Amino acid sequence: MKEYIKTAIKMTTNIGTTGAISEFSRFVEKEITQYVHSDKMQIIVEFGGGHGNMTRAILERMHADSLLFTFEIHDEFIPILAEIKDKRLAIIHASATEVLKYVAPNSVDFLISTLPLNIIPKEIREDILQNGALSLKNKGFFSQALYIKRKEMMLQHFQTCTIVPTINFPFAFVHHCYNEKQSL
Ligand SMILES: C[S@@+](CC[C@H](N)C(=O)[O-])C[C@H]1O[C@@H](n2cnc3c(N)ncnc32)[C@H](O)[C@@H]1O
Repeated sequence: MKEYIKTAIKMTTNIGTTGAISEFSRFVEKEITQYVHSDKMQIIVEFGGGHGNMTRAILERMHADSLLFTFEIHDEFIPILAEIKDKRLAIIHASATEVLKYVAPNSVDFLISTLPLNIIPKEIREDILQNGALSLKNKGFFSQALYIKRKEMMLQHFQTCTIVPTINFPFAFVHHCYNEKQSL
């Protein structure tokens, strides 16, 4: 509880970049990590590591040979993420717009994002969604938690998008999206 309050204070103090008053709930964690597989190796990317709650949930679920690249832009959150000691995790102190500098196009199995896309300027948001979509393999999932439904926005970058309302405060909507890419 003490940790939760500390995180909530940091999130609220930095609301301009976090777009949140607290970390996402366990229900959101469970919903958004559902395409993390424990029985097969995957390349997983996370956008917006924050204090690492989702990062830890992904690491708990993922296969021993899988790799997780977690992007976080906020200086103050990097040392907190660095407390997570796991050789499968690479913490990238950079914007999610830079994803293709760290992973190859069509290489990512699953991309999980808790970025506050609603408050990120449109040009940057479009860059994030476009580069995120390019990083994914054929039928690789992009799962994004938001406080409002943004299906139209997602359909600009993904052919398929379903939205799952999920318990959280404030209420959250997990968007699960993917593309069928032509074989390379
Ligand atoms: C709503 S918080 C989510 C934190 C945590 N993952 C959770 O589930 O509660 C969004 C996080 O995205 C980070 N962020 C915002 N813009 C970013 C960007 N362009 N690239 C990478 N991280 C960004 C913020 O600093 C913040 O830590």
